[in-house]
Amino acid sequence: MKLQTARRLAITTACATFGLLLIGGLVHNTRSSLACPDWPLCFGSAFPKMVGGVFYEHSHRLAATTVGLLTVALAVLLGLRGRRMLWLGLGAVGLVVFQGVLGGLTVIYRLPTMVSTSHLAVSLIFFCLLLYIAFQLREPDAAPLAVSPSLRRLIAIAAGAVFLQSLVGALMRHLGAGLACIDFPMCRGALWPTGVHPSVQLHAAHRLFAVVAGALVCGVAVKAWRAAEGRRALRALAVALPVVVLFQIALGVASILTFLAVVPVTAHLGGAALLLGDLVVLFLATRSAATVTVTAPQRALPDSLPEREFHA
Ligand code: HEM
Ligand code: HEM
Repeated sequence: MKLQTARRLAITTACATFGLLLIGGLVHNTRSSLACPDWPLCFGSAFPKMVGGVFYEHSHRLAATTVGLLTVALAVLLGLRGRRMLWLGLGAVGLVVFQGVLGGLTVIYRLPTMVSTSHLAVSLIFFCLLLYIAFQLREPDAAPLAVSPSLRRLIAIAAGAVFLQSLVGALMRHLGAGLACIDFPMCRGALWPTGVHPSVQLHAAHRLFAVVAGALVCGVAVKAWRAAEGRRALRALAVALPVVVLFQIALGVASILTFLAVVPVTAHLGGAALLLGDLVVLFLATRSAATVTVTAPQRALPDSLPEREFHA
């Protein structure tokens, strides 16, 4: 019963964090980041007039407070499940507080690039931590699917690539390089422009690395689909990967062609979180099939019999 409640709360907090991420994206996209000049209050009040940019900025703060309270409640429930789970809960509370402080620093120091980029990075890490906690609370009979170690490695690499791509995207955005090239598919007439400002190359790197990340994600999708025969939920996660990655690339292109319109740019952030979340869940829902090493008995067999490996 308690397990159910804790698991439901972990999933609710992860969903609320996804919503919070989108609101955070809206804060920047509507140019409301400095609508409240102070922090933690806004114009000295916890309930300022919700007009103009204050609506977005303060809604983000209120939503963040809600997620913070959900995380504290989750930590309390985790604390009832032993030391290890308590540490996980405390880790989540620590991370959400750190994220709030980063948010405050973005305001106080007037949007320093590295702080804004870290704020995005921590939001994704926090989202993944909540997914991990929800998985730790799964039903005991929901065993992860045994797959080849190479597939698990590929999932981890693809997740790392999507995270890295997101960091490059956030850095580009906070350096104001989102429109450093407005031609497509070329960037200032070349795939890799030279003799230009480094921010233009950062923009080009984000485009080129999308191909690498996209290929890795599609590779995972094909292998995971094959490995997950008879497991409908895992197959759904595998099918979603190429669909989301194609949408994500299309939204990136649309962001440029619409000169950073609010809808495609905000959805582009949501797409990155969904893609990363899908890969993290796939990783957690699988385990490496045990590799057993069989060593030949010394006397009974010929000297040169090789060691053999097989997957259980
Ligand atoms: C769990 C807590 C929080 C999460 C998950 C979160 C998430 C986000 C995300 C994903 C963005 C968009 C980042 C980007 O576009 O690169 C954002 C932007 C922002 N957040 Fe938060 N946030 C949280 C708490 C806070 C708090 C407490 C504040 C307090 C002031 C805050 C202030 C801001 C500001 C000012 C921006 C715009 C930054 C910019 O334009 O550079 N955030 N947030
Ligand atoms: C796997 C593929 C991709 C992923 C995971 C990804 C992820 C991201 C992320 C997380 C951001 C930062 C958003 C934020 O800070 O709120 C971003 C920014 C951006 N991305 Fe991508 N991206 C991908 C592909 C592309 C492609 C193919 C293009 C264009 C051809 C593109 C164009 C952009 C632009 C223009 C921005 C900056 C938006 C701004 O300045 O506000 N992205 N990307």
